[in-house]
Amino acid sequence: MKSIIITGGAGFIGSHVVRLFVNKYPDYRIINVDKLTYAGNLANLKDIEDKPNYRFVRADICDFDTIFALMKEEHVTGVIHLAAESHVDRSIKDPFTFARTNVMGTLSMLQAAKLYWESLPEKWEGKRFYHISTDEVYGALEIEHPEILFTEQTKYNPHSPYSASKASSDHFVRAFHDTYGMPTIVTNCSNNYGPYQFPEKLIPLFINNIRHRKPLPVYGKGENVRDWLYVVDHARAIDIIFHNGKIAETYNIGGFNEWKNIDIIKTIIKTVDKLLGRPEGADLDLITYVTDRAGHDMRYAIDSTKLQRELGWEPSLQFEEGIEKTVRWYLDNQEWLDNITSGEYEKYYDDMYKNR
Ligand code: NAD
Ligand code: TYD
Repeated sequence: MKSIIITGGAGFIGSHVVRLFVNKYPDYRIINVDKLTYAGNLANLKDIEDKPNYRFVRADICDFDTIFALMKEEHVTGVIHLAAESHVDRSIKDPFTFARTNVMGTLSMLQAAKLYWESLPEKWEGKRFYHISTDEVYGALEIEHPEILFTEQTKYNPHSPYSASKASSDHFVRAFHDTYGMPTIVTNCSNNYGPYQFPEKLIPLFINNIRHRKPLPVYGKGENVRDWLYVVDHARAIDIIFHNGKIAETYNIGGFNEWKNIDIIKTIIKTVDKLLGRPEGADLDLITYVTDRAGHDMRYAIDSTKLQRELGWEPSLQFEEGIEKTVRWYLDNQEWLDNITSGEYEKYYDDMYKNR
């Protein structure tokens, strides 16, 4: 019997991981620990919230006492840690929140797991602390050298407060292995896309704006390159690595799928127009070039050869298929988007969890 805390399970990627584990492993106990910040939304998990092997706990990962007590109460054997502040633009405006949640929050999770697991007779045996991180910790690659990708050996060189906080958290996780022998794993994944992504990130924001004929703010010249992976494929990788990954290892996760922002934006416009029955190119006029993001990393690209070779993971979807599926999902789930853009979803939680 495994009892697993998944942090950040009400967010974008976390909700896909929770859904996968709850459905695939009915004999595991899955405890979703989420503070429900602006980015957390329990509507992402409507389809599994009544499953007997699932429990939601509203808690802040920085609250060590609550996390430690929960680990004891639930006899936790594994942690899959996704909770984080995740938006680069917000980190530029408010770096403290990123240091608090991403660094101190991760440390609090590590220390709670350490003290709890060390108190058991079997200690680390059968335990696993799996930390989900990003390719952004490696810094930026050059467009002029497409042959160079991020590997697990690439030196950390973060530029944004977001990536600096994630890099720091990765170092703490590895330090807990090297210092105390905690069974840890770290993975660094490229940009994810798919259903339930908060509409402040490029793809859902632009789909929503195109639908409502609002401007599409393209940073700089739109020439920055990102490497996109369908979120369900990330969740599948997390499942494989949680079960079969080697302790103390790092795995890069990515689908070898690099796109210049402006090209992806044109693809999104084309797909939305097609699905809404608008003439091809009808919404190209919404493209609006705006001031570049401060310290905007030029290119990210992940080499996931190690994961493919050692653990047999492969992305299941080609990008063209994934993006059409994604656009269709947002167009079909306008209510989900409207609840977020109107702020309705936050009021609901505040009423529901007041005084708890
Ligand atoms: P998200 O912003 O959609 O969700 C984050 C979740 O964490 C939310 O549900 C939020 O309520 C919760 N949370 C935030 N602060 C918390 C706190 N103090 N205590 C408890 N819960 C808290 O993020 P996401 O895009 O799903 O990313 C999840 C993880 O994956 C992050 O660690 C991120 O760094 C990493 N990652 C994301 C991407 C990507 O493209 N989105 C790529 C690689 C890695
Ligand atoms: P984003 O989705 O914020 O992910 P990240 O910054 O973590 O890669 O942005 C993806 C790319 O799109 C990035 O190069 C910044 C760019 N971008 C825009 O041009 N306009 C926007 O409004 C947003 C949100 C992003």
